[in-house]
Amino acid sequence: MSRVNIGLIGLGTVGGGVVKVLRENSDIFIKKIAVRDINKKRNIENLDPNLLTTNPYEIVEDPDIDIVVEVIGGIEPAFELLKKAIKNKKHIVTANKELLAKKGEELFNLANENNVVILYEAAIAGGIPIITPIKTTLAGNKIDKIAAILNGTTNYILTKMEESNVSYEEVLKEAQQLGYAEADPTGDVEGYDSAYKIATLGTIALNKKIDINKIHREGITKISANDMKFADELGYKIKLIALAELKKDGQVDVRVHPMLVPNTNILSTINDVTNAILLEGHPVGKVMFAGPGAGEMPTASSVVGDIIAIQKEINEENPLPMMKCTHKIKAEQTDIEETENKYYISITAANIPGVIGTIGEICGRHRINLASVLQKGVCKEDFAQIVVITETSKESDIQNAISELKNNNRIVKINNLIRVME
Ligand code: NAP
Ligand code: HSE
Repeated sequence: MSRVNIGLIGLGTVGGGVVKVLRENSDIFIKKIAVRDINKKRNIENLDPNLLTTNPYEIVEDPDIDIVVEVIGGIEPAFELLKKAIKNKKHIVTANKELLAKKGEELFNLANENNVVILYEAAIAGGIPIITPIKTTLAGNKIDKIAAILNGTTNYILTKMEESNVSYEEVLKEAQQLGYAEADPTGDVEGYDSAYKIATLGTIALNKKIDINKIHREGITKISANDMKFADELGYKIKLIALAELKKDGQVDVRVHPMLVPNTNILSTINDVTNAILLEGHPVGKVMFAGPGAGEMPTASSVVGDIIAIQKEINEENPLPMMKCTHKIKAEQTDIEETENKYYISITAANIPGVIGTIGEICGRHRINLASVLQKGVCKEDFAQIVVITETSKESDIQNAISELKNNNRIVKINNLIRVME
């Protein structure tokens, strides 16, 4: 194999892992590492301080560097740095899902014009290989559906809420103390991280460019300990699911939101920080990928795999042709209002005769068929706790029914509305 020089931009969790793993590989040399704070104490033994710089342009403009590895995250300065590196004919390895989701098209076009590749296995599900399998071994398939758990923090929180029957707030606090959740958890718990990941994964799998701005996104902050308990009693687990589906009419339905997943579906068994991707295609059928979606070493595994893939073909006229981005068609994305789902509705109602009839009557007028209605007891204020599961219904009909229920004087509160996986 040819010797290659890499420049590493970022030496945090992922960058530190990359340095440690590359020490086990003698053909790959780290020429320079860009950081924000050169004096920061780092958990890396025998790190040569001469490798460090606070000027990442020393990397992207160095003619001796073949591959730029970007692990700083965010849009700027990562975007400007990668554009400069590509124009200087450097191959790119990145773990930056936000950058790919928001600026991927521009970067991939620029890479194609400059005959370099951008590899990003670590950006989708950390240590789980998914982009390379889709682009190579599964290349003979027409993939029409992906349902995935792409965020470890939220899966950890939901698992602990379910196991201990405690509130979201309590588990979040504990997860922050243990270092599993960030001090500002918004990106994870509000579903942004999963949306970035499914935008790129869906584009690659379904072969149509997905617009991140058109992805319907909901997080897990409204899930209660009661929702967890009721879902469990009904035979479901609640998971934050990222979906991308090619519909029969050619539209692409892409969204991120919590779902009740039946205990018979393998995604219901994915717990703690583990990620999983369930892919459906023809001719392969259903395939499941699962493993560590984040962390120093699993993420470094994917980054280093991408570096080695480039190293092996660095002298080819057209390196890694199967890994290049070839998506020319923009996806026509389904509006959430037009989707059809089963729903879980948790309702607090006045404990009076006929209240379940009122709920059934309002739903019926909006073409919603109820699959089951359970009264989960009466609380001390003499309110009835009612849980409804619907048959498959149109989202706009459900939203209209919820508005009418909220305005009915027999209904105290709509506690939650969660879509149910079939
Ligand atoms: P991190 O621990 O916060 O590290 C970021 C690194 O970038 C730090 O070393 C920081 O320098 C450096 N940096 C930031 N701005 C810089 C600038 N302008 N110039 C030079 N260096 C700069 O982040 P991380 O967790 O490693 O994540 C990096 C990327 O990988 C993100 O895109 C993230 O989404 C993605 N990713 C992370 C994981 C994971 O498990 N952590 C998994 C998959 C993907 P200092 O050290 O001096 O502050
Ligand atoms: N914050 C992400 C998670 C890890 O919790 O899964 C980085 O992709």
